[in-house]
Amino acid sequence: MEIKAVAGDIAKIRAGAIIVNHFEGAKRPEGEAAAVDKAIDGAISRLVKQGDIKGKLNEVTVLHGPGKLPAGRVVVTGLGKKKELTTNKIRGAVAETLRYLRQKNVTSAATIVQGGGVNGIKTEEAVQALTEGAVLGLYTFRRHMTKKENNNVEIKELRIVGREGAAMQRAIDSGQVLGEAVNWARDLVNEPSNFMTPSDMAAAARKLAGEYGLKVEVLEKKQMAELGMGGILGVAQGSQQPPRFIILRYKGSGASGLDIALVGKGITFDSGGIDIKPSEGMQEMKGDMAGGASVMATLIALARLKPKINVTALVPATENMPSGTAMKPGDIITAMNGKTIEVLNTDAEGRLILADALSYAKKLGAKAIIDVATLTGACRVALGEICTGAFTNDQALLDKVMAATRETGELTWQLPMFDEYREQLKSDIADIKNIGGRYGGAITAAKFLADFIDGTPWVHLDIAGTSETDKEKGYQVKGATGVPVRTLVNVILSMAKK
Ligand code: BES
Ligand code: MN
Ligand code: ZN
Repeated sequence: MEIKAVAGDIAKIRAGAIIVNHFEGAKRPEGEAAAVDKAIDGAISRLVKQGDIKGKLNEVTVLHGPGKLPAGRVVVTGLGKKKELTTNKIRGAVAETLRYLRQKNVTSAATIVQGGGVNGIKTEEAVQALTEGAVLGLYTFRRHMTKKENNNVEIKELRIVGREGAAMQRAIDSGQVLGEAVNWARDLVNEPSNFMTPSDMAAAARKLAGEYGLKVEVLEKKQMAELGMGGILGVAQGSQQPPRFIILRYKGSGASGLDIALVGKGITFDSGGIDIKPSEGMQEMKGDMAGGASVMATLIALARLKPKINVTALVPATENMPSGTAMKPGDIITAMNGKTIEVLNTDAEGRLILADALSYAKKLGAKAIIDVATLTGACRVALGEICTGAFTNDQALLDKVMAATRETGELTWQLPMFDEYREQLKSDIADIKNIGGRYGGAITAAKFLADFIDGTPWVHLDIAGTSETDKEKGYQVKGATGVPVRTLVNVILSMAKK
């Protein structure tokens, strides 16, 4: 989709649809909506008066045959109460509106700057949110559908009509970079496991590196063994697919050190292993590499936005399968940092591969580490599918991440890390065991990871509840959400040298 800033009067634009808005409680059309209303002989005013248009958030009203206008349709999008408007509501309302129009075979649209200047939202913020909403909301995953008819109408052009042309175009460009990075992650997560093996993930990383000028390195089994990565090797030993340890580097700062390591769980299918999962819902576990996809996607956005900071993404990628060669409950493995782990449940595999990846991040000398993982069903039980769970050993670092989530709308909530929880991980025969009992599972998983971090400032994001959705809502569509790519990019931009 081409998105561009244009100057002038929306009422004069020729497009499949022009989009204005209405706030809940407003007595008559305001701003650009008033100008458009005039050109169509008060049709909007009448519908407002009659109560057809209420301005409720995400309400979409289409007016046909719009008199003197060159556009094919006038669309009035409800933005809810003016005082309650947020950039995230703009993202969602734009997405709902454009999906509606796509369904009506509209292929081009023009919109005013939805929400610009309202409730303290700057024009550029509104334009970026609008762009993100458009790119994210129109996402589809149709690669495996052979029937193309009725299935491939696309909105090819979106014009955003406003005054500050160059500044608006910059905001559009940023929004597009972010939206496309998120959609790249969604593609990887939506792909079934037979199309997204560890080797496929590595190939995707290599392709990225070529396209965006990132450095890439992929470790194979032999190198992992030399490094002593007993975690990922243990999980991989039940699978026919060889594991891959993906290292993607973005170098934006002149200095040589590593500022931030992003670590993402890359289980391309989690059957549970010998502690096999029940069959109901198991197909969902093709998405157990969402954390890995999100950190790789983050580097695409960085390569395009070029902040002055060095960031490396680390993705341990493997399947978790049961077989005659698989790890067995009770086995003891040794992680890269030398700690021994008693594997009491082979389905708690994410933390085993992360143990190695976090150790590797420390070896690289990362000044800060953020990991992203579909780690625990317990996190989904605790927070539902609304919030990502956040954990830290460094409140200042998490505060930065939380500030970013407030801008991106990727809801996140902190859970505790009291030392008392560590007791649940005491093993009788090894340094640590990989399960902490029935209660507080998201927290004991985070405490497990903390054993492989020591002093480095670290944030752990458990996206088990938020990585996928079964509802089309706002800028989310069914399937992978691409969370928390926009937050990671936002926080890294805020930490980069200006
Ligand atoms: N990948 C799962 C967690 C998960 C569950 C992600 C549901 C997304 C949706 C993880 O590897 C897992 O199986 N965790 C176990 C841990 C338990 C055995 C301690 C869980 O949550 O049940
Ligand atoms: Mn598991
Ligand atoms: Zn898993």
